[in-house]
Amino acid sequence: MKTPEEFLEANGFTAAGEIDRQKMIATFLSEMEKGLRGEPSSLRMIPAYVGVNGRVPAGAKAAVLDAGGTNFRSAVVSIPPKIEERRNQPMPGSKSQVSEDEFYAAFADELRRVAPFATTNRYGWCFSYNADVTPELDARLNCWTKGIQAPEIVGQYVGSELVKRLGGGSIAVVNDTVATLLAAKATEGDRVYSSYIGFILGTGTNTAYVEKNRNITKVEGLDPAGSMIINAESGSMDKVARSRFDEAMDQKQVDPGHNPFEKMISGGYLGGIGLEVWKAAAKAGMFSPKASAGIGGLGTLETIDFDNFCASFRKEGRANPLDDIFAGADDAKMARRLGVPVFERAAVLTAVHLAAFCIKSGEGADASAPIAINADGSTYYKTRAIPFDETVRRELDDMLVKRRNIHYEITPQVEDAPLVGAAIAALL
Ligand code: BGC
Repeated sequence: MKTPEEFLEANGFTAAGEIDRQKMIATFLSEMEKGLRGEPSSLRMIPAYVGVNGRVPAGAKAAVLDAGGTNFRSAVVSIPPKIEERRNQPMPGSKSQVSEDEFYAAFADELRRVAPFATTNRYGWCFSYNADVTPELDARLNCWTKGIQAPEIVGQYVGSELVKRLGGGSIAVVNDTVATLLAAKATEGDRVYSSYIGFILGTGTNTAYVEKNRNITKVEGLDPAGSMIINAESGSMDKVARSRFDEAMDQKQVDPGHNPFEKMISGGYLGGIGLEVWKAAAKAGMFSPKASAGIGGLGTLETIDFDNFCASFRKEGRANPLDDIFAGADDAKMARRLGVPVFERAAVLTAVHLAAFCIKSGEGADASAPIAINADGSTYYKTRAIPFDETVRRELDDMLVKRRNIHYEITPQVEDAPLVGAAIAALL
């Protein structure tokens, strides 16, 4: 019988140690450049029409929304970051399909609730989906990700639609990576950075960075001396080889074929990959008959259960089906040996693509002014199966500092960065 490692490899799964980092960085850079030139590329490289040098007026407060993967938040936010009147509820369309009216009503109701506490009628909306942005900061949804079911919204300018329903005001829509980048800039204190990256690894994934206008050749009329934040939509990178497990998991999603890179590294999908690995391993006779039957009968697997099991962590109050299925010591050992590589691969792919964005920024040559990477999201910070953040840093040290003399810093996490960044965009 094959070892777990041989079994993974035979199914096209590239283990973390085998990933060709230099080749993948080159592929990312080439896709980015094509995207900036407006040539066919899996990276959309969306100009955000926001830079990093604006100043927010002191004392101003904005009513903001944050539409994420599973939750949406509303609050009133001022800078330095102060969040008031916060409320959290399920993202419309995340549990079942919603109509256009239901979708906007949920957000309009919340803005009506918080607007009286704001000092401006320009709202901020952190909209964490693939959308093209206008210079006025409206956003046209290209496609849903994270399994959201609200088909009528695709193709709409979500800011204008919402304002229409509110009967007044205006709105600044920013991607969560852009918001996170802005939040890092606004809270840097006396640190000196040469550039900024906003990175999200939660239910989904994506990266924003600062690009020189002269390199954004697909947009005419930009000041060639200036720079702007680019939302790369890096989750849709399609030049990274997938395993049979990735493909099998993808076939079970509401959007097969979309966002292949996101589906290899983010929390919405890691559990699904793990389940496919184990189902195939059970068929190959790698578990006991009892464990094989148990895993064969499991319909879905949430990343949190996959992660807790791989970390041998039992979360109080949360029954994990895997603890019963792999109750035998040999089964548990085999399951972990097959499962942990899914997290290890995700961490290395995360690092490789962050390295590519640091290189693309053209900055970080001086150690006293590194590139600030502000990372946000539950998968990045809460994964237990492996030391995720530590793995990413180790990889970046090698790929950037050691090999290229490019300096970076993963900044302290900014709390509620999406809400803070949305407020900055509204108040600038
Ligand atoms: C979306 C991005 C978003 C990312 C992180 C992806 O699914 O397409 O726009 O930034 O998730 O939330």
